[in-house]
Amino acid sequence: MTTRNLKTAKQGLQGTLTIPGDKSISHRAVMLGSFAQGITEIRNLLHSADVKSTIQALRALGVEFEEQATVLRIRGRQLADLHAPSEPLDMGNSGTTTRLLMGLFSRLPFDVELIGDGSLSKRPMDRVAIPLRTMGAQIDLTNGHLPARIHANDRLQGIDYTLPVASAQVKTALIFAALQADTVSHIEEPVVTRDHSERMLLAMQRPVERHQHTVIVRPGLQLVAPQIVVPGDFSSAAFWLVAGLIVPQTQLYLQNVGINPTRTGLVKLLQRMGATITVQNRISTAEPVADLSVVHQQLHGIEVVADDIPGAVDEIPMLVLAATQANGLTIIHGAQELRVKETDRIATVTTELNKLGAQVEELPDGFKITGPTRLHAPAGTMVSSHGDHRIGMMLAIAALITDGQVVLEDADAVDVSYPQFFADLEKVLV
Ligand code: S3P
Repeated sequence: MTTRNLKTAKQGLQGTLTIPGDKSISHRAVMLGSFAQGITEIRNLLHSADVKSTIQALRALGVEFEEQATVLRIRGRQLADLHAPSEPLDMGNSGTTTRLLMGLFSRLPFDVELIGDGSLSKRPMDRVAIPLRTMGAQIDLTNGHLPARIHANDRLQGIDYTLPVASAQVKTALIFAALQADTVSHIEEPVVTRDHSERMLLAMQRPVERHQHTVIVRPGLQLVAPQIVVPGDFSSAAFWLVAGLIVPQTQLYLQNVGINPTRTGLVKLLQRMGATITVQNRISTAEPVADLSVVHQQLHGIEVVADDIPGAVDEIPMLVLAATQANGLTIIHGAQELRVKETDRIATVTTELNKLGAQVEELPDGFKITGPTRLHAPAGTMVSSHGDHRIGMMLAIAALITDGQVVLEDADAVDVSYPQFFADLEKVLV
């Protein structure tokens, strides 16, 4: 566990950053590429701990990966050509790897066991296992959690299912199983969540249909290997967008950012707070990409409701930080999903920002934030990521506007999604 002295931005942040590859899209590219006919080529894959967990799991089943310069090549396999792994598959810290693979692995001709780190082993897995079992999968969990055993299975049937919580991970797990089922599936989500899987299946010539909130999946896992260029991760860009707005004397230009509308809810919320974010050089292929620029601005408080959450689910910690600097009250409701992320983010965001003098109140399903507050760190102030990458990076941005010295415990957690985060911070610190 590493501690790190966080820096203050005395003269703002200036410059251009190229945002590293999207984590969600990287996982999906590796997983679907593993079963495509031909060689899938992936450029700008995110090289982070979570994506490594996905690659290692598939490699352990016999999928071949070859990395050359900046391209990852995958030689796709038929399910029947895979072999049983010699040991349990380690999901590390990655909820996406675990839940998506549970769907993908629900019709394998051999057993697999999934294990994970302490945080992942506390996260709910029954939300995926229960509907997958209805389809015929044989999955044993440990009191609803990892370790999980997925038993050999040769039959899946389609499902008609309404997700009780809006979750792209659960939706995707069911889509991956539905592609291997014998009958058609209808998967309905209460609020539309990130649609990267649906877009990637289209790029692999195996489209699914959408009618309003329902995804219709017909059987068949015949995927054509594509060439994928992973866009920059909007969730990583979010740290710089909010930094740009709240750090005085700042001007940032963010290149290559994925702006899929199911992911960019934070932009809309910041606009409601009064922000202007400039979008340039839009390119639309399978996933839309653009450059974003932002300068320091005064924001005002807003009210956030449940329908706003899925499009900004990973960015709420940054929204709370922005609200600590906004004029007036910000109230966030309907965010109870944050309690089952890498940490209970309602608790960790509140505890850690209040150590710096913020006025954040924890609600059962969100936050009440009074702004603006001057953040300060009396000598010896330690904050902690609690092992959660997004909490660590949010605190590093908070420290930029904090008087005094902030020390971050468990700073290495950022490696889960953004290993070059601190190097990028150095690039733009004036
Ligand atoms: C993800 C979906 C979201 C998000 C996670 C990545 C995905 O989780 O929080 O970081 O890649 O599908 P939920 O589906 O649990 O909301």
